[in-house]
Order: sequence, then C-alpha cells, then structure tokens
Amino acid sequence: MFDVAELISQCQAAVGQSEPHRAVREVLEGTMADAEAVGDVMRPRQGGLNILHSAPDLTVLHVVWAPGMVLFPHDHLMWAAIGIYAGQEDNTFYRRDPEQPTTVTSSGGKELKVGDVLVLGRDAIHGVANPLAQITGAIHVYGGDFVNQPRSQWGPGPLEERPYDMAVVNAQFAEGNEATGLTK
Ligand SMILES: [Fe+2]
Repeated sequence: MFDVAELISQCQAAVGQSEPHRAVREVLEGTMADAEAVGDVMRPRQGGLNILHSAPDLTVLHVVWAPGMVLFPHDHLMWAAIGIYAGQEDNTFYRRDPEQPTTVTSSGGKELKVGDVLVLGRDAIHGVANPLAQITGAIHVYGGDFVNQPRSQWGPGPLEERPYDMAVVNAQFAEGNEATGLTK
C-alpha cells in the first residue's frame, strides 16, 4: 500500500546518497510500479500543486494537471524527478537561444505515461501539458528548496524570461480547473 510518509522518508534517504537524483529515480520507479495504489491514496480531484514535503535539500510535490492544461516553460535550478501515477504528462524541453539568451526555443520532448519516471538536470527548462481529457496525477521530487529558489519562467504569452511567479502558476491551475468544470 502506498504511504506518503514512507515515500518522503525514502526520498530523504535517497538525498543522502552519492548520486541523489539516481537514488530518487529508483524510489519513484518503485512507487509508480503500483500506480493504482498511489491514486487510491492521493485521490486527484482537480488541478493543483500541493506541497507534501518542503526542506532546503528536498521538496516533494503532488501535482495534478487538469484535462488539457498547459504550463509555460520554466526552470528549477535543481535536479528534478517526475513520476506519473495517472493520465499523461507531456514534457517539452527548451534551451536558451544563443543569439537572444532571454528567449528559449524548444529542443524535443517526452511523453510520460502511467508508471514512467523522468529525471531533469539542474539546468533543464521544460513546459508541461496534459494532452488527455482526463486528470493527470504526478509526484514531483526536487533536489532543493523548490518553494523559495528564485528562478525563471517564459510565459504566459511571449517566451521572454521573467521571474517565476507562483501566483501566476496557481492562476493557471485555477483556469485549467474552471475550463474543465473541476472547481469545487
Ligand atoms: Fe517543472
């Protein structure tokens, strides 16, 4: 049976390893091997980003994407590991335009389905979309203080770098819920 406290303690142990992102990948792969058990406990109902654990060296989030939701490109400035327990999360990767470093251009992507785990390096810039007409549920693990780390987003709108703003991100989730009738 899936247990949030157990997942967090496994992640804490992984962060103490010599290659924490690899160790966390293994933890998430083990967790997502029984994705249904994760869904039974997390019971995703609407889009949102909930903090399960927040510390200077480790952040664990429960991320739920509303159907069809798209989140603009952003960076984290720390490694990240994403595991999917319901639906699908399409990641698009970006890199800074060498001619105009405040803008980004896409450089490929990866579709994540139930059970998949993706590790992102500390310099990664990604945008995320839920391509399905159903909710997507994921656990995101970060090797640092995701909540307080100053970083960047490119959007909404033009792909121009600006400071990451959690209020804008939360508004995107609210819009996604409203568009799909998931508001409480
Ligand atoms: Fe992200």
